[in-house]
Amino acid sequence: MRPEVYANRRRQVMSMAGQDAIVILPSAPLRIRSRDTAYPFRQSSDFFYLTGYTEPEAVLVLVPGRDQGEILLFCRDRDPEKERWDGPRAGIDGAREQFGMDDAFPIDDIDEILPSLLGDRTRVFHTLGQDPDFDQRLIQWVNQVRSHVPRSGTNPGEFISLDHHLHELRLFKNRDEIQAVARSAKLAATAHLRAMRACRPGMMEYELAAELLHEFHRANALPAYEPIVGSGANACIMHYITNADRIGSDDLVLIDAGAELEGYASDITRTFPASGRFTGEQRAIYEIVLAAQTAAIEIIRPGAAWDAPHEAAAQTITEGLCDLGLLHGDPHECYAEEDYREFFPHKTGHWLGLDVHDVGDYRVDGHSRELEKGMVFTVEPGVYIPPDADVDERWRGIGVRIEDDIAVTAEGCRNLSSDVPRTVDDIERWMAA
Ligand code: GLY
Ligand code: MN
Ligand code: MN
Repeated sequence: MRPEVYANRRRQVMSMAGQDAIVILPSAPLRIRSRDTAYPFRQSSDFFYLTGYTEPEAVLVLVPGRDQGEILLFCRDRDPEKERWDGPRAGIDGAREQFGMDDAFPIDDIDEILPSLLGDRTRVFHTLGQDPDFDQRLIQWVNQVRSHVPRSGTNPGEFISLDHHLHELRLFKNRDEIQAVARSAKLAATAHLRAMRACRPGMMEYELAAELLHEFHRANALPAYEPIVGSGANACIMHYITNADRIGSDDLVLIDAGAELEGYASDITRTFPASGRFTGEQRAIYEIVLAAQTAAIEIIRPGAAWDAPHEAAAQTITEGLCDLGLLHGDPHECYAEEDYREFFPHKTGHWLGLDVHDVGDYRVDGHSRELEKGMVFTVEPGVYIPPDADVDERWRGIGVRIEDDIAVTAEGCRNLSSDVPRTVDDIERWMAA
């Protein structure tokens, strides 16, 4: 994103916080994987959203109205010896020049400087509970200030979570962000196409996962989450990430994989037959899920309720399962009783952005919120018939999900992940080529 984008976001947070406030946001911590080996560092999405800065050991402090500078970053100083091992750092000058900070200080000086910034502020915007070590330090700084201020003076008395306001901002994507999610989805689509075409009965699930990772890494992207490659009944395990079974010749394969590119996630699921041809039963279930997804997407436009696509999908699935005799009784009653949940136990989607399950409220004042232009979310109905389900044997072990990434536009919506075939014919054609 252009530097003005981050500057604009910080301004919005400051105007929401007000002149008597201070906003304090630490970067993500480095996490140890094994002894002295760390996991690859991933910046906290909130921190990235307001800075674009991707180093650890940093704290963003916004002090609205402060004469000597409102936008401050505590960060790692340059250190030639450490940089020789771990790579270059932006340092103090970089924080000002590349990241648009009004001022920057070495992170090691934070104990000395931060209490003085808290001094004349009454409200502290900070989200407690994400980094208990940092919370502890912040409470110490606040106590230090309180103990030095006479009872009549100002001091930071009120803690307010930053989450709500910041996450409302993050929920609405501007054009640049929608394009970023679209690029991420385009890349994930390439990975799905590659894996679908590479699939052969007898392969291991992890071999298909490797096809996905190949496309992500060669584009300097990461998977946004552990890819799911579930063959046969593994497709019925919602969070299956073991990916270690052999793919059978009559299996469906469910792949749920998305990229994280330039910070933005995509999240796509396709289900296809390992052999390249759906069986009658597989096709019947697939068509129901496809019809459910189509019905859900058709409803999406500004002003529609967040719940409406889920309701459309659940109704379509209920009718389809009643037709096949997998649910019994009147479809309206089955829907009202939520009988479909036996085979469709999850919701139809979630916000998508910097996080794959992105932030933002789904309900406002107890009601499903209205969709608005700039919201981006997944539409991912599924039908899963576990191997021990009390149904005719021919249906057992079939699991199908179809998931696309949808942006709400002024007139309706746009499918950002439509490059991967969705219909039975298009899938069979792609696999045969
Ligand atoms: N891949 C996680 C999800 O579909 O929500
Ligand atoms: Mn998914
Ligand atoms: Mn999803």
